Order: sequence, then C-alpha cells, then structure tokens
Amino acid sequence: MKSIAVAIDGPSGAGKSTIARAAAGRLGFVYVDTGAMYRTIGLAVCRAGVQLGDTAGILPVLPGIEVNLSYEDGVQHVLLNGEDVSDLIRTPEMSKYASFVSAVPEVRAFLLDTQRDMAKKCSVIMDGRDIGTVILPDAEVKIFLTASPEARARRRYLELQQKGENVTLDEVLADMIQRDRDDTTRAEAPLRQAEDAVLVDTSELTLEESMDAVEAVIRRVLEGQ
Ligand code: DC
Repeated sequence: MKSIAVAIDGPSGAGKSTIARAAAGRLGFVYVDTGAMYRTIGLAVCRAGVQLGDTAGILPVLPGIEVNLSYEDGVQHVLLNGEDVSDLIRTPEMSKYASFVSAVPEVRAFLLDTQRDMAKKCSVIMDGRDIGTVILPDAEVKIFLTASPEARARRRYLELQQKGENVTLDEVLADMIQRDRDDTTRAEAPLRQAEDAVLVDTSELTLEESMDAVEAVIRRVLEGQ
C-alpha cells in the first residue's frame, strides 16, 4: 500500500506535537517530531561549547552527530549518538539553541534526507515549520496549525510551571514573539503556510477540540482523494 504523508506546520506552542501525536495514534500513522531533531542538534552544539550566534562554530560539530528516532509503545524517543535525550531537549535554553541551529542551511540539509526517508518508509504525520513547503511538498494532507501568541504563551507557561521551571508569563510571551520573528524571517526555509494547507486556529479551542478538528481535516482530505 502506498504510504500517506500528513504535514503539520505552525509556530511554537500551537499544540502541534500533542495534536499530531494524538492524530497519529488515532489513525495508525507514525508521528515524526522534526522540532525534536533540531533541538537535538542544538543540544550537541551547546555541549560542544558553541555560543548562541556563533554560526561558524556549528559546522565542525555536525559530522560527529547522529540523530535517530526510536519508538517504544508508540512513544517517540530521540537519540543523540545513541543516547536518549528526549527530556534534555525540552528546556527554554534548548528552544533557543534549536532556533539558532535551525537557521543554518547546513543543518537543514543535514536533516532533510532523514526526514524524507522516514516518509518513504511508512505513513507519517510529520510536524515542523517547513514540512508542507520544503520537506514533503507532495504530502497528501497539509495543515497549518496556529493560535494567537498570547494563547500559545499561556499554554507553554503552564507546561513549564508543571516541570518546575522558574519563568514568568511575560518572559515566555517575549521568547515566543522573538522565536516567531526568527522562524518567519530567516532566509532558509522560513515558517509560512503552504498555499494548499488547511488553516486550523486553536486560540479558542480546547486541546480535545483541536485534536478533533485536525483529525476531521485529515479524514476529510483523505476521503476526498
Ligand atoms: O517545534 P519546536 O519548538 O520543538 O522546534 C524547535 C525549533 O526548531 C524552532 O525554533 C523551529 C525549528 N524547527 C524548524 O526550523 N524546522 C522544523 N521542521 C522544525 C523545527
């Protein structure tokens, strides 16, 4: 059977990973979180002692990096040279490093084949910033998932609070706005809605409603083909 690709793009904090993971579970697809791959490269670069902004410092680190995704009971784990770094990459500092490395063309080229290969092997729901525009331009379903910066910051703030991170809502909102600006204005694969993507705005939706909305779009598009 031909594999099916669902591309979900959008800004940080729109609920992409939670919603994409749930939709993949419901539909029996493999979930691929490409943000986790950029975060993993960010972690490797940080561990190598490269400072934020030192783009030239990234390049010598790349050949020593292997990023792999593995799945246990349907849960994605991300491996950096065999080490499970799934939790280590979920910090505000790694968000900054991920955004920094993701603007570098060599880093994007480094991950491009891995991401495309995954979509060749099986049916996937892949989320990121450039999946519908660059990685899988022929994806059967494309969704642009967004929400207002305030709604996204509130959700991310609650998430970080639960983890015991010491941040304020204002700091999270400022980081979010800065990251949106970086992700949408960078020269390399900027975040933008593909022309043929369906827009889903989750500002006024609960998580459950957002999941239902995304699943409904996927089923509608696939049934119409
Ligand atoms: O979705 P996330 O917050 O885990 O993504 C981390 C960073 O990686 C974010 O700044 C955008 C970047 N990214 C990207 O440039 N392209 C992707 N396909 C996925 C993430």
